[in-house]
Amino acid sequence: MHQRARVLCVVSARDSRWSALRNIIVSIYQPSHLAGLIPSMQSHIERAATNLDDGGEAEVAFSKLALSLATDVIGQAAFGADFGLTTKPAAPPPHHGPPRQHGEEDGDGSHSTRSSEFIKMHIHSTTSLKMDLSGSLSTIVGTLLPVLQWPLRQLLLRVPGAADREIQRVNGALCRMMDGIVADRVAARERAPQAQRQKDFLSVVLAARDSDAAARKLLTPDYLSALTYEHLLAGSATTAFTLSSVLYLVAQHPRVEEKLLREVDAFGPPDRVPTAEDLQSRFPYTDQVLKESMRFFMVSPLVARETSEQVDIAGYVLPKSTWVWMAPGVLAKDPVNFPEPELFRPERFDPAGDEQKRRHPYAFIPFGIGPRICIGQRFSIQEIKLALIHLYRQYVFRHSPSMESPLEFQFGVVLNFKHGVKLQSIKRHKC
Ligand code: HEM
Repeated sequence: MHQRARVLCVVSARDSRWSALRNIIVSIYQPSHLAGLIPSMQSHIERAATNLDDGGEAEVAFSKLALSLATDVIGQAAFGADFGLTTKPAAPPPHHGPPRQHGEEDGDGSHSTRSSEFIKMHIHSTTSLKMDLSGSLSTIVGTLLPVLQWPLRQLLLRVPGAADREIQRVNGALCRMMDGIVADRVAARERAPQAQRQKDFLSVVLAARDSDAAARKLLTPDYLSALTYEHLLAGSATTAFTLSSVLYLVAQHPRVEEKLLREVDAFGPPDRVPTAEDLQSRFPYTDQVLKESMRFFMVSPLVARETSEQVDIAGYVLPKSTWVWMAPGVLAKDPVNFPEPELFRPERFDPAGDEQKRRHPYAFIPFGIGPRICIGQRFSIQEIKLALIHLYRQYVFRHSPSMESPLEFQFGVVLNFKHGVKLQSIKRHKC
């Protein structure tokens, strides 16, 4: 459990420690700062889209590409680092056999192989934080009999092939990578004159540490690395899942696709990049499609809280230290607020529509609720909308024949696609 505690800091920090951390980082998620991130987000999206250029029958492991994109975007915005995960591999030498997919290795120790190693570790770490019976044995036993978790884990760490041992190996490698990023940035910060300093997540945290004794005590080097990785984790898997969900669902609903394309095409010439204001006001149907996709496949179906004191909720007395699970995924399928919940119908989020007006304001909470609501909500919406606009200007997508039906999911810290989303990208305008 110790390794996991290392990688979950804002999410699991409590009370004063949490509010100190949140106050430090909240400024970088303010609208004024986010608007300035558009050019960098857009260039990462354009780079990722070059992986689709073949079009036609070729299959794209889209959810993998989306995870690479979301990781690159957060890497740049939060740490000022370009991980290069979406860089299109150089054309391979003549190759006989089945075509390669995005993310496949080229076996020569080159940049794309290292990227794919990183993403593999990242994916492994993301997906091994599971809540179902395929998770690590010590976690499962620990859920039922907490007292046994620590001794069992110590035992399993010695067993080759045990999930606990593998998770520790991968987490260790990721932590070292994060330590490296943080160390580089600390050194660069010492070299750079004040005026050239960036305003990204890591710089803001480092500045707080330098200027405030309490923050210095809180932000030890170990904690800084863990905080950094937590950011990567919280911001990438969720955003990638959501972007993949939209493409998967739109491909299944031609009428929605047609309406979405009309809105995207009406925006202007293909190279016009939307401003923050455009994103707010010019894409109302894209907003509805995004919300409906998030309702349909809720990436964080459960949100946890622990009572810090005894509390009475609607007549139920919860003693101090009671765990309370909220289920936004269940709320999102409640027919009282979402009639015919199994239908994918973006118009249910039309602000002028009756369904939206009648709905309870807390029925749709994909980003959680209250003071601990997701800090990256605006950031991810901005990124996903920019990606949708760019992609649908050029392509439409169809499910690959190799995709399973119905779609299978994997339940972990966040929801994931069990076998990924595989699509065919079809170029809209052949030049
Ligand atoms: C579609 C994308 C995303 C979804 C659906 C999502 C969802 C969530 C949810 C449900 C929570 C828990 C809220 C609660 O306990 O009430 C959360 C927390 C959090 N999210 Fe996100 N998230 C997304 C993207 C991001 C991004 C891009 C970042 C960072 C850039 C991020 C950073 C965080 C952090 C740091 C927390 C912990 C906040 C705290 O405890 O104060 N998330 N997110």
